[in-house]
Amino acid sequence: MFWYHNMTKHSYNSVRTNPNRLSWEDQPSTYKNYPESYAKYKLDLEKEEDNFLYHIAGLTAKKTYPSGEYYLRINPSAGALYPNELYFQVRGVEGIEDGIYHYEVRSSSITLLQKITEEVGLEPYLGYATAMKGYLFLVSAIYYRSSWKYKDRAFRYCLLDSGHLLGSIEASALLKPHAVQIVYNIEREKLNHMFGFEEHEWFLAGASMAVPMQDKEIRAIEFELPYVDGSRTFEANPLIEEAYEETSILERCKKVIKAPKFTYNAQKLQETIFSRRSQRGFQEGAITKGQFNYIMEVLAKPVLSDCDEEVSIYAVVNRVLDMPLGLYKEGEYIKYGDLAKQAGYLCLEQYSLSSAGAVAFFLTSKAKNYQALYQKAGIIGQRLYIASLYLGLGCSGIGAYYDDEVNTFVGNDEMVLYALAIGK
Ligand SMILES: Cc1cc2nc3c(=O)[nH]c(=O)nc-3n(C[C@H](O)[C@H](O)[C@H](O)COP(=O)(O)O)c2cc1C
Repeated sequence: MFWYHNMTKHSYNSVRTNPNRLSWEDQPSTYKNYPESYAKYKLDLEKEEDNFLYHIAGLTAKKTYPSGEYYLRINPSAGALYPNELYFQVRGVEGIEDGIYHYEVRSSSITLLQKITEEVGLEPYLGYATAMKGYLFLVSAIYYRSSWKYKDRAFRYCLLDSGHLLGSIEASALLKPHAVQIVYNIEREKLNHMFGFEEHEWFLAGASMAVPMQDKEIRAIEFELPYVDGSRTFEANPLIEEAYEETSILERCKKVIKAPKFTYNAQKLQETIFSRRSQRGFQEGAITKGQFNYIMEVLAKPVLSDCDEEVSIYAVVNRVLDMPLGLYKEGEYIKYGDLAKQAGYLCLEQYSLSSAGAVAFFLTSKAKNYQALYQKAGIIGQRLYIASLYLGLGCSGIGAYYDDEVNTFVGNDEMVLYALAIGK
């Protein structure tokens, strides 16, 4: 097991001996805005490409608390801390000038960071030798936004949230005729330097929604952007930095080239993406076996990527009509019985989610490429949200669970990556 994962397990005792006292006034900013001297273009939802971009990471709801106003987004995030930033290159897309952009969430605009030409671009940093027509995305994390609250465990959440954002790209792309390929083999060190991240922010993955332009060889673009603050305050976390460094070179990757096929209706999918929210608690409602099967099929579809890692999905069936209660993995029952209470306990006593939900999920892996396998868990999580909400059901990600006790419960010694619950 990767040492970082082992060191950041929750246990019944650890969450009680390390209470987290936070003052919300000190919360790092969750927005990165480039200075006004850069060219910025406000997204116009009437325009097809702008609409596509908005459906990846746009703001969709406002909450007002005594301490201020908070915005929720298309993509979910552990604790709504949104550690990730989204960058992308556009080439040959109608309505957007070729270039490298930053998605500015706060103002729903895109900032042109760097122009590109027919000869140079980001392609080689994602492993492409020819020019790519379309979008090349890069997802980063400003980890302090999350480590401010979640301390050492935050690297896990940065990866899960990044996976959700990659899944969000995948979902928005379903509104278009192109498949999205996740690219984990990116030149992280070089790109971090070029983007001026200065150890505060780093890239975790790329994604391509683009087609090769035959015979158009491309050279790697070179630039150096200045550092732009994206968290207001910052405290380095040596453990997280080491975990990132150590997992940045991927080894023995397996490529998946078979694209997943989803059967969503485009209009309804768009509404689902736009209105997605996390369920804050379930009412013990049951779902049908048809709904359960539909969702399990979505989760089992391949994730197109250059470094696929195996992630096991365990389902605790609490309330599915015509299905026996118990623990279930890939079509087989491992344990029969009413395990709802236990599922809630395992998620740090979040009974209103994992006990009151119709199904609770645990994702585990024993694979080696930590950044790739963890982000895949996030992509699967995003698929679970979209499929459940599409069927009119609720969903919530659950990043907090007693790691070792989940292992005992499911009967393996793999790394426990993520829990989720769905229901009514
Ligand atoms: C990785 C991850 C872990 C999460 N963990 C929990 C959790 O343990 N308990 C919970 O109630 N919500 C959890 N959530 C839901 C977030 O609180 C929610 O996404 C965030 O507040 C934004 O709200 P929204 O999803 O409705 O847009 C999690 C979400 C993600 C993506």
